[in-house]
Amino acid sequence: MADDLSSIAKDVFLVKGLKNTTLIWRMVVLTLAMVCGVYICSICLKQIGIGTASKIGFLDIKIVDKPCPEPNIEPWEIPYVHYPNPKTYSREECACSPVRYFAILSMQRSGSGWFETFLNSHANISSNGEIFSVKARRSNMSTITETLDTIYNLDWVSSASKNECTAAVGLKWMLNQGLMQNHEQIAEYFRIHGVSVIFLFRRNLLRRMISVIANEYDRSAKTLNGTHKSHVHSPKEAEILAQYKPKLNSSTLIQNLKQVSETTKKALEYFKSTRHILVYYEDVVKNRTKLMDVQDFLKVPRMELKTRQVKIHKGTLSSQVKNWNDVEKALTGTPFENFLHEDYRR
Ligand SMILES: *[C@@H]1O[C@H](CO)[C@@H](O)[C@H](O)[C@H]1NC(C)=O
Ligand SMILES: *[C@@H]1O[C@H](CO)[C@@H](O)[C@H](O)[C@H]1NC(C)=O
Ligand SMILES: *[C@@H]1O[C@H](CO)[C@@H](O)[C@H](O)[C@H]1NC(C)=O
Ligand SMILES: *[C@@H]1O[C@H](CO)[C@@H](O)[C@H](O)[C@H]1NC(C)=O
Ligand SMILES: *[C@@H]1O[C@H](CO)[C@@H](O)[C@H](O)[C@H]1NC(C)=O
Repeated sequence: MADDLSSIAKDVFLVKGLKNTTLIWRMVVLTLAMVCGVYICSICLKQIGIGTASKIGFLDIKIVDKPCPEPNIEPWEIPYVHYPNPKTYSREECACSPVRYFAILSMQRSGSGWFETFLNSHANISSNGEIFSVKARRSNMSTITETLDTIYNLDWVSSASKNECTAAVGLKWMLNQGLMQNHEQIAEYFRIHGVSVIFLFRRNLLRRMISVIANEYDRSAKTLNGTHKSHVHSPKEAEILAQYKPKLNSSTLIQNLKQVSETTKKALEYFKSTRHILVYYEDVVKNRTKLMDVQDFLKVPRMELKTRQVKIHKGTLSSQVKNWNDVEKALTGTPFENFLHEDYRR
């Protein structure tokens, strides 16, 4: 190969009648330039491959063969834009539509199920649910990584999986599902793979507590014709579930509220360096245009989002608790006093 090249080069250069030594030097420089070029190219190709198909080496080449046109985005967005190559199907006409990765970080009974049904009503969003409620998937960082890789490569099969034109893919992840234990490595995964975080929390932790206890009660009582439901779709079902009025333990109440509040703060701290948006359940309840902010955050086209879910606990708090007087007494004069008074509708 070197011989062929040098003979071609010789012909070219000899025509111009150059001296032999100059010719040799030129050949050396030419060869070096070629080696450099190939090296730089290979590094570029590698980087294009990262986060899209790094696990399936031969697919990298496919991406390189038919590069997608440069998306019209700001430079800071580049790490957050991906072109997954699912193993199980082809993205067809959307192979060159960029995909954003997200994770909804939340706590039980904070409206995340409701919130997720809104997101999944969007034609281009797939939020795959509480994937890590299954213990085996969160047993260690390698199972977590493997699971996330599958989701973000658009290979996860769930009722939320859309089609080849998914533009934002993610999951709902509760803080107590391995997220806090492995927070350093997970934050690192989010950084490397350009995952955006949606924090979804509830302002009124007292209402959340009531919902937790009531849901826990229904898990064994199964009030809806012998089945347990955490979310309902009819006002009648909601009414039946709301009939149960829990009694709160007023001596451990403050301690519990404090603990939940601390956990929330810690989560915000652990993942503060990821690209994120903070959404409060109550704010979405009051103003659905908050969902537009979320769509903008995910860079999907704006659509009107819908849900069929019905709220279980409505109306004033005092009517939802058996020992309201005790609760009121326990919280008055504490930082949690405002939880007693905040009311709203959905
Ligand atoms: C959203 O989905 C529709 C229908 O599947 C598709 O035509 C469109 O290109 C998608 N939009 C984006 C931004 O991916
Ligand atoms: C992680 O957990 C899985 C499933 O529980 C197990 O098979 C695997 O050996 C574990 N890996 C490490 C590195 O501990
Ligand atoms: C329970 O079952 C009965 C009879 O099948 C039905 O009429 C009723 O609506 C059900 N109630 C609920 C809350 O699902
Ligand atoms: C409240 O919780 C404490 C600590 O767990 C327990 O000792 C006490 O019996 C509980 N009180 C009631 C009324 O359940
Ligand atoms: C609803 O939220 C949007 C965006 O977050 C905001 O611009 C608007 O002023 C809010 N509307 C009301 C009535 O609070």
